[in-house]
Amino acid sequence: MRILFVCLGNICRSPTAEGVLRQQLERAGLADRVEVASAGTGDWHVGKGPDSRTCRAALARGYDLSKQRAQQVKPEHFTRYDLILAMDSSNLQDLKALRPGTASAELDLFLRRNDAPLDEVPDPYYGGADGFEQVLDLIEGACQSLLVEIKGRV
Ligand code: 4NP
Repeated sequence: MRILFVCLGNICRSPTAEGVLRQQLERAGLADRVEVASAGTGDWHVGKGPDSRTCRAALARGYDLSKQRAQQVKPEHFTRYDLILAMDSSNLQDLKALRPGTASAELDLFLRRNDAPLDEVPDPYYGGADGFEQVLDLIEGACQSLLVEIKGRV
């Protein structure tokens, strides 16, 4: 199974989701059965590592995001991945507009699919440190629920 997380810049929310899910998959012994990646709808940060505030907040909870590099969503992602999960509804709208006719991936809003207290992961980029903690709280919770779905599918 292949899963792609998508946000706007691919330096805050979706790299966090990639790192959190990868660690949960490793702990569940499923790391070799599921490919996890992330991408942004925008191209501003392509090739760069995640935002330093994102890396710091994630590392404090045991997730090392330092090896990740930002990429932009590409048409071939819609056939490579089984599930593409958007962090907010604007990302989902952009993905629907980019989706080629040949797309096989299922598109969904990450939190709505996974019984979270909110429907969207708020963009922390222009806010304070609390925003990065909220991103981690929401993503850790939703990844636990996603892991249950994955276990039923692989
Ligand atoms: P992300 O956050 O979509 O969670 O990676 C953002 C990162 C950068 C920008 C916006 C959102 N930006 O405008 O550069």
